[in-house]
Amino acid sequence: MIDLTPRSLHIVAQYEDGEDARHFSFCIDVPQAGDLATRAGQFFMLTVPGLGEAPFTYVSPPDKRGHFNALIRRTGSLTAALFDRVQDPVLGYRGPFGQGWPSLKSARRVLVVAGGCGLAPLAGVIDGAIDHPGAARLCVLYGARHAGAQVLSREREHWRSALPWIETFDVAPVGHRQGSPLAYLDELFGDEPPDTVLCCGPEPFMLATARDCMKRGVADRRIWLSVERRMHCADGLCGHCYVGESYACRDGPTYRYNDYQQLLASASMGPAEQDSGLC
Ligand SMILES: Cc1cc2nc3c(=O)[nH]c(=O)nc-3n(C[C@H](O)[C@H](O)[C@H](O)COP(=O)(O)OP(=O)(O)OC[C@H]3O[C@@H](n4cnc5c(N)ncnc54)[C@H](O)[C@@H]3O)c2cc1C
Ligand code: FES
Repeated sequence: MIDLTPRSLHIVAQYEDGEDARHFSFCIDVPQAGDLATRAGQFFMLTVPGLGEAPFTYVSPPDKRGHFNALIRRTGSLTAALFDRVQDPVLGYRGPFGQGWPSLKSARRVLVVAGGCGLAPLAGVIDGAIDHPGAARLCVLYGARHAGAQVLSREREHWRSALPWIETFDVAPVGHRQGSPLAYLDELFGDEPPDTVLCCGPEPFMLATARDCMKRGVADRRIWLSVERRMHCADGLCGHCYVGESYACRDGPTYRYNDYQQLLASASMGPAEQDSGLC
């Protein structure tokens, strides 16, 4: 039977990390074996008592003590309460949920494309490529509206020194790349172009990324997106997160681009009719 009861969770540490965004370290009070079996790109449900639950991705997965990190942006009542509570509140935790990013074993060269807070769900993939370098080489293209809107400042400092890394800004500080990250794709599609693309950001941005990468020869089935839908049960029960015939909570939130297009077409709905944008 599916257990929808949240377990108790505490905030261990927090710091400002981007515009209206905060980096939280949480601790699950009594971690269980299943907590350690998370995959990059999966998510958890956070309960703020009196306000309900919302989904967030892991920046780092729970360790043996139940400690893990998340990047949370203040958007509405639940996140405002989380940011504003002065005393250490007892929160709730359910997870992990979703499929996460694919295995990169068959990839030769991987391009990670992130927009704004969309870098958070990709953190595990980037850490994995640094900690366990395999045959696949990974590079990152990260776009933000301006310098203050960038997130994961501490992680980026480490990542930038370990991997090929390009940052762009809609409004760039002097000496930095200005414009859409997609304007810089050609820098990354040189002699050895990527054969696999993982992308997370606002939905129109992800769809544009997929199209631009396909024009440069990447197969649609090798492009992965992480989509955002409203979630309630997170376990395939309530139907709030439908994408066509699929449940984003159980079958996603990561989808192959070709599968995602088919799901949208089968439901006769364009992305604009659905919720869009990751934080
Ligand atoms: C799989 C998944 C992973 C996520 N990971 C993160 C994360 O790591 N960090 C983070 O900050 N946020 C993440 N989000 C988004 C987060 O769950 C929502 O912003 C959440 O609703 C905030 O709750 P709230 O009560 O503060 O705001 P709400 O009052 O629920 O919403 C505030 C505003 O955001 C809009 N909104 C809320 N949820 C969605 C949605 N799913 N799609 C589009 N618009 C929405 C509302 O319409 C409203 O305008 C994730 C969402 C999903 C589905
Ligand atoms: S959130 Fe309930 S089915 Fe997906």
